[in-house]
Amino acid sequence: MTEATHTRRVFSGVQPTGDLHLGNYLGAVKRFVEMQNDDWEAIYCIVDLHAITAGWAGREGMRSATRELTAAFLACGLDPDKSVLFNQSQVAAHSQLGWIFSCTARMGWMNRMTQFKDKAGKNAERASLGLYAYPALQAADILLYHATHVPVGEDQRQHIELARDIATKFNLDFGAEGFFPLPEPLIEGVATRVMSLRDGSKKMSKSDPSDQSRLNLTDDADAIAKKIRKAKTDPEPLSSDLEGLEGRPEALNLVNIYAALAEVSPDAVMAEHGGASFSTFKPMLADLAVARLAHIGDEMRRILAEPAEIDRILGKGADKAAAIADPILEKTHDIMGFVSSR
Ligand code: AMP
Ligand code: TRP
Repeated sequence: MTEATHTRRVFSGVQPTGDLHLGNYLGAVKRFVEMQNDDWEAIYCIVDLHAITAGWAGREGMRSATRELTAAFLACGLDPDKSVLFNQSQVAAHSQLGWIFSCTARMGWMNRMTQFKDKAGKNAERASLGLYAYPALQAADILLYHATHVPVGEDQRQHIELARDIATKFNLDFGAEGFFPLPEPLIEGVATRVMSLRDGSKKMSKSDPSDQSRLNLTDDADAIAKKIRKAKTDPEPLSSDLEGLEGRPEALNLVNIYAALAEVSPDAVMAEHGGASFSTFKPMLADLAVARLAHIGDEMRRILAEPAEIDRILGKGADKAAAIADPILEKTHDIMGFVSSR
């Protein structure tokens, strides 16, 4: 078996840690929906087991974050009849393959993971073992479905490369050439790194203490318009072309956001708005953002009013996911010589 024999299958995961923002939408969810409509076989996972690596949000906090993320997926147009949508903890095979991959990955590989270093900070001794093993579980998420493509933001590139290394080493160590495909990261478009509205050198993030730094998917039209009006810029008007925005990260970020929301290239935005002052450009961006985003928040609130329906959708998705994952885990066990009478 070679890589080419694996069917084209997309897998991606998002942590239920609350407050989805424009970066998650443009860098992840919007693209997930486009791929579903593009005839990919698509599996999207709410990675609740990953979410506890950095702390527990409490029972209600966990439940509401998972439901909120599901509602966001649905409100953005994800169709659970076209894609598989489920939460990770309902499919036990993720943890099982995650363990096996913890034994495949090497300490030296894990020590190079920059996300662990960022998240653990100075006090790595007090970080959970799970935070350290996080990328091995992520590799299991992907490879459990023999997924070939993984749409993610730029910050996940290193983890997908690790998944490729794990797949390669597993296939080699256990004499199973081509069993696990080598997944390709899909990091495309102008919105793979949406920056903070307050500081063009920092990425937009839910962990930024300033709510003004991000557009949340739950923000209403007023909040969206106000945050864009107040977004940090420099005093110069927009240059006539993209090159002129070099060294002006805040201005470039607003142009990129405009391009992603309008689904045109940044060059096209500059052709239309080059030379405009921010007092002209920002209201146009605000109108566009409200038109594209405000209804998502409304739809999320409508969906969240019926949590039992959300749970039912996740349960059905988990059954579909397990139907793909379980035979692949069984085959993995068989390759490794784990005895089973099933
Ligand atoms: P996280 O909420 O960090 O788990 O991210 C969920 C998804 O959103 C991942 O695919 C990230 O790469 C993507 N993402 C997060 N922040 C940004 C951002 N500022 N710009 C673009 N994509 C992002
Ligand atoms: N680590 C990813 C993030 O923080 C979330 C994730 C977990 C993921 N498992 C995955 C992404 C598998 C893609 C594929 O965004």
